[in-house]
Amino acid sequence: MSEAMPVASQRPLTVAVVGATGVVGRTMIAVLQERAFPLAELRLLASGRSAGTTVPVAGRAIEVAEVTPEAFDGVDIALFSAGTEVSRELAPQAVAHGATVIDNSNAWRMEPGIPLVVSQVNPDDLAAHEGIVANPNCSTMQLVPLLAALRDAVGLERVVVDTYQAVSGTGAEAIAELETQIRAHAAGAPKVAAVYPHPIAFNPIPEIDVFLDNGYSREEWKVVTESRRILHLPELRLSCTAVRVPVFVSHSEAVHVETRGTITPERARELFAAVPGVVVRDDPANHVYPLATQAAGRDEVFVGRIRRDASQPDGRGLAFWCVSDNVRKGAATNAVELAELLVARGWVLPASRRAGPPGGG
Ligand SMILES: NC(=O)c1ccc[n+]([C@@H]2O[C@H](COP(=O)([O-])OP(=O)(O)OC[C@H]3O[C@@H](n4cnc5c(N)ncnc54)[C@H](OP(=O)(O)O)[C@@H]3O)[C@@H](O)[C@H]2O)c1
Repeated sequence: MSEAMPVASQRPLTVAVVGATGVVGRTMIAVLQERAFPLAELRLLASGRSAGTTVPVAGRAIEVAEVTPEAFDGVDIALFSAGTEVSRELAPQAVAHGATVIDNSNAWRMEPGIPLVVSQVNPDDLAAHEGIVANPNCSTMQLVPLLAALRDAVGLERVVVDTYQAVSGTGAEAIAELETQIRAHAAGAPKVAAVYPHPIAFNPIPEIDVFLDNGYSREEWKVVTESRRILHLPELRLSCTAVRVPVFVSHSEAVHVETRGTITPERARELFAAVPGVVVRDDPANHVYPLATQAAGRDEVFVGRIRRDASQPDGRGLAFWCVSDNVRKGAATNAVELAELLVARGWVLPASRRAGPPGGG
């Protein structure tokens, strides 16, 4: 986001990455470097298992320390990506030790008073934070910038989204499991499942996270509840089916939207193209549409296959396909963008500890 870029003029900050050895943590470190975030110190934290190991950062090997409450002394911003239990236990302690936490887990996303923010959708919600900011689920992340554009232009009535989610969304062990199963298949050996309940190689699995009493999986319900919260549309009618697919990086989503006003595919393309961080890739006649392999390693949300929803005959229906790198925009990049926004707007400190009027200092 261009708005958040003038951070270079700010005082360099001490930033901790919790879960620094993981898929998301390593990408957070890379994104901080790529975007030249003004770092006084980068503190790498993980469990006791990897304490003492090193992670390469800009050509230097930085040692990983075990995460403890004291590890947050002197930290300005802590990027958490070590799972829900670690966040529940240690994020409040990090805040007590003076850090502002941007949390990538499911621990705080629906907690009243804790902002849940996508950088280009609801950045103003950051203003009121009291030490913890939540980063949304990766499937929600790539969906809401597109829905926000439609909300603002024509209004939203109902959304149905089906996801095709990469194994990197589960973490390093799941990436290894897909690789091992592909090799086993090629060798004619049995495919052994440990991370997922079934082999994931060549086998989409319609189960992500636990099943809830309402029949949805928790991943599906996160898309419903988080999207409503980020869009400030608590009553939005939204349904989701979330499927894990044998793809390494990038989540894909088939989205059907019933709008309040009429919308043409041409207008939708214009609206989407105007959203920061969204790229329209939509020339089906030439086989051009968003692909997981092309989105991997990129920070943008790609959207294409934009067409009228034929089941909605009065011009109020739209169907499209969107793809984004789940580890980058879906997790690490948005977290760093939120850190940049906090710095650029003078909101690193909790609202109650800022000098001057709300939004200042
Ligand atoms: N992957 C994605 O696309 C994605 C997207 C959005 C959100 N997330 C969330 O991000 C978090 C991490 O995901 P990931 O994909 O990076 O997982 P991962 O590759 O399995 O890495 C997990 C990280 O957490 C650390 N960790 C685990 N238990 C810990 C403990 N008890 N104390 C301290 N550190 C601990 C690990 O450190 P050790 O090396 O010491 O074990 C490792 O650094 C999860 O909450 C996940 O839900 C992931």
